[in-house]
Amino acid sequence: MENSRLVRLIFFVYTITLSIGSINCRNNTNLITNQAALFVFGDSLFDAGNNNYIDTISSFRSNIWPYGQTTFKFPTGRVSNGRLIPDFIAEYAWLPLIPPNLQPNNGNVQFTYGVNFASAGAGALVGTLPGMAINLGTQLNNFKDVEKKLRSELGDAETKRVFSRAVYLFHIGGNDYFYPFSANSSTFQSNSKEKFVDFVIGNTTSVIEEVYKMGGRKFGFLNVGAYDCAPNSLIRDRTKIGSCFKPAAELIDMHNKKFPNVLKRLQHELSGFRYALHDYHTSLSERINNPSKYGFKEGKKACCGSGPLRGINTCGNRLGPSQGYELCENVTDYLFFDSSHLTEKAHQQIAELFWSGPPNVTGPYNLKTLFELGLTN
Ligand SMILES: *[C@@H]1O[C@H](CO)[C@@H](O)[C@H](O)[C@H]1NC(C)=O
Ligand SMILES: *[C@@H]1O[C@H](CO)[C@@H](O)[C@H](O)[C@H]1NC(C)=O
Ligand SMILES: *[C@@H]1O[C@H](CO)[C@@H](O)[C@H](O)[C@H]1NC(C)=O
Ligand SMILES: *[C@@H]1O[C@H](CO)[C@@H](O)[C@H](O)[C@H]1NC(C)=O
Ligand SMILES: *[C@@H]1O[C@H](CO)[C@@H](O)[C@H](O)[C@H]1NC(C)=O
Repeated sequence: MENSRLVRLIFFVYTITLSIGSINCRNNTNLITNQAALFVFGDSLFDAGNNNYIDTISSFRSNIWPYGQTTFKFPTGRVSNGRLIPDFIAEYAWLPLIPPNLQPNNGNVQFTYGVNFASAGAGALVGTLPGMAINLGTQLNNFKDVEKKLRSELGDAETKRVFSRAVYLFHIGGNDYFYPFSANSSTFQSNSKEKFVDFVIGNTTSVIEEVYKMGGRKFGFLNVGAYDCAPNSLIRDRTKIGSCFKPAAELIDMHNKKFPNVLKRLQHELSGFRYALHDYHTSLSERINNPSKYGFKEGKKACCGSGPLRGINTCGNRLGPSQGYELCENVTDYLFFDSSHLTEKAHQQIAELFWSGPPNVTGPYNLKTLFELGLTN
């Protein structure tokens, strides 16, 4: 009697183990086929650590304390005290954190839910900060390498299906519009401002179209933020500390006026192309100008850095130990963590607007509706 119950129990446990085993082993990349994945392109706003693995200078890396002091409790390479906008988006979409493409030992398992290609300092133009960051075109090539791996594992049709259900996030252009004012850019000097902006948008559009050709259908864009009023910009002119950096603002404004029209055109031309555009420029300037309305005490002074408004990029002694830096006591009071990058609290607010903002803030879709489309298609 006791024996037969034991046998039945063992059999029961064995059966459960077998079926769990078969779920796990049947298909390594099974989950990616059931959930919309997230692919991330762009600059420091989205870089989850790719720059830790490239040959660049220390001011382009954030793998030093106090970066990462909140949430992660160690410096991951994210240019903030904590999580970034794509980290929150992944959470809202019930995905785990999306790993940086260059993170070593990146087996197939890590690609299951998507990949982050973004790189701090990246521009849409190859001539922006050359050799310091992974520009947008190279990010696309890295995505094509991931495509090859997935094709060999899932087959062509399934890979295309995964890509068509996935969501692709972009924030790019800010570095292109600042670079010409700190270095000689022949592209900037030999073209009109309008033409220069067209190049940035044109190069971005080419990448979007390539991702579409690979099967991408659902895109999320932030327009270019008001970085002309970031702490670093506010101290550019030491005789007028606190005034925004107008030459960059002019280009950013041109970009943000033109870019929505390009997206409308793509929606007409590319069948099935759907997108969420969040007016990040407005969200950021509102917070810079009315910090208390959004729960911040400081909208213009950075938490970490040195000099006026802590606007010098020395956070974590990234320019060497000789300069020193200050770190604020309570980071939740601050909009900016360092001289030109936001705090986790700010990222969370923007991510919420990007995810579920009403149409006057994020449109024509928001990210929530784009992810839901994946479940019914
Ligand atoms: C994984 O699952 C997909 C879809 O169910 C299938 O097409 C593919 O062949 C499977 N791959 C492996 C390695 O079993
Ligand atoms: C740009 O080039 C000019 C002339 O070659 C040089 O004098 C100037 O210092 C350069 N500016 C920067 C920011 O590199
Ligand atoms: C991309 O930018 C380069 C300048 O770096 C420009 O010559 C080219 O025309 C741009 N491409 C598009 C499609 O706008
Ligand atoms: C930090 O600031 C927030 C918001 O102003 C406040 O709620 C919190 O109590 C402060 N924490 C500390 C340790 O002072
Ligand atoms: C968007 O619309 C809501 C009302 O639906 C309004 O409260 C809010 O101020 C609007 N935001 C912007 C940026 O226009």
